[in-house]
Amino acid sequence: MLLRRELPADRPAVLRVIHDAFATDDTVPIEVGLTEKLFDDGYIPELSLVALDGDLIAGYVIGSRGFVGDIGAVGIGPLAVLPEYQGRGVGTALMFALVGAAEAVHERLLVLLGEPDYYGRFGFRAGSQVGVESPNPGWGTYFQALQLSDGPVNGTFRYAKPFDEL
Ligand SMILES: CC(C)(COP(=O)(O)OP(=O)(O)OC[C@H]1O[C@@H](n2cnc3c(N)ncnc32)[C@H](O)[C@@H]1OP(=O)(O)O)[C@@H](O)C(=O)NCCC(=O)NCCS
Repeated sequence: MLLRRELPADRPAVLRVIHDAFATDDTVPIEVGLTEKLFDDGYIPELSLVALDGDLIAGYVIGSRGFVGDIGAVGIGPLAVLPEYQGRGVGTALMFALVGAAEAVHERLLVLLGEPDYYGRFGFRAGSQVGVESPNPGWGTYFQALQLSDGPVNGTFRYAKPFDEL
């Protein structure tokens, strides 16, 4: 499996992966519209990664520009893997690639909203444990953060604007 940056031509396939990963019924999952908006406002090209099986995009992850005060930080997500590829290490590969890419471009802080059991393996901890407060205290330990080598950054995280419109 090859991981590389997402290219504009990949977008229909990327949105399909997100749709299929999150769909629970006939309605379009909110993650599809969110990602489209992030492409217009907030996404970080270096942190928009696809996982390929041959020519097929099997997984996708996006990082977008958020802030702690006026310091840039990265909001991760959506992360999505096609249902038939789940449980085969694609999500893990995308997450490790994203953390490495973020280190390489000198990002200082990554945050996400997700299952602590899953994201703990990449080094994420509850935001409150590493000095990062959630924009929504109701998210509890689902709001997680990873301080990178150029960190730490401490304070309350603010997501890119499209997240406010959810
Ligand atoms: C969550 C997701 C991205 C994981 O990707 P994946 O390629 O299936 O995961 P991997 O194969 O790399 O890792 C599998 C491991 O993750 C665990 N895992 C997968 N989804 C999980 C979840 N929601 N909560 C806790 N653990 C989870 C599996 O139990 C497995 O654990 P193990 O290694 O201890 O056996 C993928 O299942 C997916 O797209 N799900 C639907 C969309 C979603 O929920 N996205 C994440 C929220 S933004």
